[in-house]
Amino acid sequence: MSTEDKANEVSAEAQDQEPITPPADPGQTGPGQGAGGPITLFFILGLVASLVLGWVIFPQLLYSHKEQPIQFNHVLHNELVDDSCESCHFFREDGTYSGAPKLAQCIDCHEEVQGESEEEAKFVNQYVLKDREVPWLVYSRQPACVFFSHVAHVKMGDMECVTCHGDVGESESLKPYEANRISGYSRNIWGKNIAGIKFNSWDRMKMDDCSECHVRNNVNQGSVQTLRGGCFVCHK
Ligand code: HEC
Ligand code: HEC
Ligand code: HEC
Ligand code: HEC
Ligand code: HEC
Repeated sequence: MSTEDKANEVSAEAQDQEPITPPADPGQTGPGQGAGGPITLFFILGLVASLVLGWVIFPQLLYSHKEQPIQFNHVLHNELVDDSCESCHFFREDGTYSGAPKLAQCIDCHEEVQGESEEEAKFVNQYVLKDREVPWLVYSRQPACVFFSHVAHVKMGDMECVTCHGDVGESESLKPYEANRISGYSRNIWGKNIAGIKFNSWDRMKMDDCSECHVRNNVNQGSVQTLRGGCFVCHK
């Protein structure tokens, strides 16, 4: 019997059975019937596979993880310093921001190893004694074309560090730095969420996030951001 004959027979059978209730044994069903099961299963498996690929595997391939050169404990140090955050992150006389601390902010206490901690020993031996600055990785680093000023936000805008940075300043360790392998930018710019969804003000720092707050606060009122002048608020 050729396959065509078989097919005809099956469809004839299916026609015969139409008025009656379908057979209970799934093995007996015609080609059109019962195929929904495997198709749904394939659909679900495919969906799960692509979700895992998109949400778990893709972000892992897209971002490289780097540990900070030295671990740093903010909680421990915030209690020891006199001037809170400004002991290490301060404004210079000309209004520019010191940003990541230099050895000068550490040397008073770490001229030599004073505790049992391995991290401290590494810090003193590899950096302080060799007079080498620690190459800190900056999570919030923007592309070179972007102009950002801390004084405008922290002093003039009276904003808290947490608004843009989250809880780094209250943390016990520095999390790994993640760099986007394609753009080279820090993952904190695009945000943890691969779909770009934002729950807190510090989750992302893309152009839209800066602009959204500027529009809300009427920054540079009058210079419409679609005009060239508007772009030069943040671009050099
Ligand atoms: C004793 C010095 C010291 C003190 C005090 C200190 N920090 Fe830091 N901070 C550091 C070091 C070191 C780093 C690592 C450099 C980096 O990540 O850029 C850092 C990094 C940060 C960063 C990450 C910046 C980035 O995007 O990479 C933030 C935000 C920050 N500190 C906020 C704070 C806040 C808020 C306080 C006060 C509650 C504070 N720090 C007090 C030394 C200090
Ligand atoms: C006011 C004094 C003071 C300043 C300023 C200071 N530290 Fe410390 N630091 C300490 C003390 C005290 C400890 C605890 C040492 C111990 O007993 O292990 C410590 C511990 C550390 C450790 C080991 C922490 C751990 O969890 O194992 C590192 C690393 C470190 N400091 C780095 C720095 C860096 C980098 C700076 C400058 C940005 C800095 N410190 C500025 C006093 C200071
Ligand atoms: C309006 C958002 C905003 C606020 C508020 C803010 N920052 Fe930042 N911070 C940024 C951005 C954006 C960068 C990256 C700047 C760049 O790449 O030029 C940055 C960079 C930094 C760096 C690394 C700078 C470097 O070049 O080494 C430190 C440290 C830091 N901020 C600490 C703080 C602290 C401490 C406060 C609170 C006193 C604070 N920031 C408030 C947005 C903010
Ligand atoms: C949470 C709100 C907020 C976010 C986020 C924010 N800004 Fe601002 N920005 C302000 C406010 C408010 C001012 C005006 C401060 C003042 O002068 O009183 C300002 C001022 C500025 C200025 C100075 C403008 C001028 O003409 O004096 C620059 C430049 C700037 N922001 C760049 C940025 C960039 C780049 C980002 C994103 C990386 C950003 N801002 C994110 C609120 C924000
Ligand atoms: C409120 C601040 C702000 C304003 C105003 C602004 N930008 Fe941006 N722009 C940013 C920030 C921050 C980034 C980097 C983060 C990102 O890629 O979104 C950026 C990135 C870009 C990039 C991508 C550059 C790169 O290297 O990835 C382009 C192109 C750009 N902006 C064009 C414009 C133009 C054109 C305007 C005027 C219509 C404008 N921007 C206005 C903050 C701003």
